Parts: sequence; structure tokens; C-alpha cells
Amino acid sequence: MKDKSPVIKLAGGEQFPIELHKVRTVQKLQLKPIEERLEAIKAAGYNSFLMSTRDIFLDMLTDSGTNAMSDQQVSSMLQADDAYAGSQSFDRAKKAVRDVFNTKYFLPVHQGRAAEHIIAQAFVKQGHIVPMNYHFTTTKAHFELPGGSIDEIFTDEGLKIKSTCPFKGNIDISKLRALIKKHGADKFPFIRMEASTNLIGGQPFSIANMRQVRKVCDQHDIMLVLDASLIGENAYFVKQREKAFKNKTIAEILHTLCDLADLIYFSSRKVSSTRGGGICTNNVKLYDKLKDMVILYEGFLTYGGMSVREIEAMAVGLRETQDETVIGQSPSFIKYLVEWLDARGIPVVTPPGGLGVHVDAKGFLPHVPQKEYPAGALIAAFYLVSGVRGMERGTISSVRDDSGEDVLADVELMRLAMPRRVFTLSQIKYVADRLQWLYKNRKLVGGLKFEYEPTVLRFFLGRLIPTSDWPEKLAAKYKKDFGDSL
Ligand code: F0G
Repeated sequence: MKDKSPVIKLAGGEQFPIELHKVRTVQKLQLKPIEERLEAIKAAGYNSFLMSTRDIFLDMLTDSGTNAMSDQQVSSMLQADDAYAGSQSFDRAKKAVRDVFNTKYFLPVHQGRAAEHIIAQAFVKQGHIVPMNYHFTTTKAHFELPGGSIDEIFTDEGLKIKSTCPFKGNIDISKLRALIKKHGADKFPFIRMEASTNLIGGQPFSIANMRQVRKVCDQHDIMLVLDASLIGENAYFVKQREKAFKNKTIAEILHTLCDLADLIYFSSRKVSSTRGGGICTNNVKLYDKLKDMVILYEGFLTYGGMSVREIEAMAVGLRETQDETVIGQSPSFIKYLVEWLDARGIPVVTPPGGLGVHVDAKGFLPHVPQKEYPAGALIAAFYLVSGVRGMERGTISSVRDDSGEDVLADVELMRLAMPRRVFTLSQIKYVADRLQWLYKNRKLVGGLKFEYEPTVLRFFLGRLIPTSDWPEKLAAKYKKDFGDSL
């Protein structure tokens, strides 16, 4: 039987995401009373990264390393072949990479940013510019370390919160050509395309667009690098939204995407529901250029900083990426929640993307100035009224300029990640309800300011405080409306 997207039609015609898996191992959760949630968010410096899962009901921080593993993945770990060099587990992973990404050479690394580190050290030099559809936080940090910079050349639709554009992750080809003309091709070590563009709402690019980028690369002899951390979802959207690929299998679409790149890297924490990551290519020269650095920074070429158990689970997870019922699970739940919220006027990024639901904090809290971090404030407020943890993707995740001013983010988003096969639809309905309640009471939410601010990737460890006693007032209103009910 051909795998089909996990969406069914109800008798009344309504579309409904259905779980095509059953739960066999569970983790107990608890929903703490609001008084305790208020204490917990205070103690975490209003930064969701500094919270303990002990205080969290639904953890929607990320899908990174938190997707549910399949029974096949867990059982594969038992056959792991413990060896420093020449492990058969690595052979199985290499074969999976070859089958799924259609590449001959594979370098394992301990996670996605390790691949970025190695690629940046190998190719990015002082004064280089790396054009891309959009940056990811760790990507930008690594490409800037050797003195490079990034240039985002998304299309005009890319940053619109409300849009019907099916491929908001596309690169604007005329902007790309203009950029190369302005600086000269020598300035560009490569062009990077990120599948299911994370920071602008998990938005895919089309194969037609990637083909155009490839053409520009060929004309100017520039390498094309694909960040495949969310490639399964991108392939899923290509099948759903790009007419020419409607009847192709996900496996075929993955090959088509990968064949267009010179170098592919991925975070296995995302794409294959386990730990680790990798770099792959069909170009032996590129492989040779990178392999010594893998040994230096990550580990021997047959484990790259991963345990053999993780390598086995990665191999199986990569193969499962070809299964539409697996990679379609999270996008179908995201679509359900986005459409529910959108229909009630709650500002969310549309069309629904991969990875998670992205709530527009500027639209949700128009009274909170961007300098007071509306996305950070929304996450703190939403945790308080629901026990649900989201992630800030706005100005807190940005940096300061040379004069010490915040570089205001293009978009202020509260990301509610939808790890694969982790939540049930009743839990998602609870998220929807509490978000709607918060929207009705949004005037009660105020801003945040930094109390402690690290200089690098400040969103991870920074501590903030509210600009007034708004958290207490919000908690009091919640208590009034919901009483002792959790
Ligand atoms: N590239 C993309 C597109 C990512 O989304 C991530 C991680 C990385 C690279 C880095 O990979 O975490 O394995 O080192 N994204 C996670 C997230 C952290 O929550 O979105 P890593």
C-alpha cells in the first residue's frame, strides 16, 4: 500500500489529522497550578531555555532531539556495533544516507552545528558573504566566526505573517543575481538553502526555485550547500504544493532536492528523530577537504562524536523520512492548530509550515514595543497560563550592533514546536484554548528587559525581568476565570 498523508475526512467533510501510530511507551506529565508556574518562570529569568521540564506540561520548545522514536529505531539500537573504527553501525548509516540523500560520501558529526562549524572553517574566509534564504542562529554564528557575513535573499512574501504563498522559503533569484553582480562571484564561498526555513515559520522552498539557484551557481561556479535538517517536511510540502511533484514519492522528491546540491548537511536531532548529524556529498574533493576536520573536532570517521546506538537509530530514522505518514504527522497537526487559530483572528504565520506553529507576537501584543521583546514576553505569558513551553524567535534571538543597540528582528515569533508523534490531538486542543484565552486577555501582558545578557547566542542563557508586575496580574485573572481547575 502506498503511504498516504495522515489526514482523514470526517463524515461532515471536515479534514482531521489522525494518528497513524500507537503509543507504547509513555512519559508521565503533570500540570502544576498557576502559583507554581509563576514561581517557575520567575526562577528561570523569564527565559524558557532555563526552565526544568519538571515544571512544564507540554514541551513545545523544539523538535530537536524530542521527536518520538519508532519501535524500529529503538530496536535497531540493540544491534549497535561498538567499535572506535570500522563499526558496522556506520556502514548501515552510510547506506541509509546513500539511499535517502543519494550521496556516496558521508561524514558523521555530533549534531547540526558541528557540521556548520566544519563547513565554515573549511570554506568561509574574512570578507566572504554567504547568501541564503534565511539564517539559522547557529549557522549565522558559525559563518561569522571566520570573518564572513550572511545575506538573506528571501522573496517579498517570505516575511509576511499572513500569506498564501506556498513557498515562502524561496530565494529571490533577481536579488541573488544582483548580489553576485555587486560583489563579484569570488566573494561567495557558497549559497546556502535551508529546507523548511526554520526562523520564518518552517516555510519550504520549491524544487523549481532550487533549480534556478542551481543555475545561478553553475553560471558563476559557486557551490550550493543544502541544510537538510528539515528536509523531510520540505519534501512533504513539495508533494502537497508543487504540481509537478504531486505524483512523485517522497523518496523521489528527496533525491531530486539532494541531487541539486554540492554539499548537504543535517541535524539528525531533527531529520531522523535521534541525536547526531552529518555532512554528505558526491564530490570526493569536498569529502577530502572536510574529513580531517571531522577527525580533529568530532571523532573518527566512523562515529563522528555519536554513540553507535545513535548511529543505528539515525540510519533507521533517515529511512523513515521517506514515509509520508511519518514526516506528514507534524505538518498535519500544525495545519490543524494554525487553521483553528487563524479562523479566530489569532495572528499566526500562514500558510502552515513545518516544525511548529508560529504565533506573531507583534500582532498579538501590539502594545509591547519591540525593544521590550514581545515574543519573549508572549512565551513567558503563555507558559504562565498553560504550562506550555515555547521558544522565542525574535529580537532576544538576535544580537546587538556595534553601538550596543538591539538589532530588531524581522519577525517576532513565539514558536510552538510540534515534535513528531509526541502530542495527542486533545493536548493540541488545550493549547488552542489557552492561546485563545490569552489573546482575549492580551492587554494584561507587558514587556521584558535583560537582567543578564551573554554576548554570544544570548537567548540560550540570558535572564530577563518583567517591566512591571504584569505576570502577577495575569496570574490573578487566570485564577479568577479558571478557579482551582488546572
Ligand atoms: N540548521 C537548522 C535549520 C536547524 O533548525 C538547526 C537546529 C541546526 C541547523 C543546528 O542543529 O541543533 O543539531 O546543532 N535547530 C534546533 C531548533 C536547535 O530548535 O530549531 P543542532
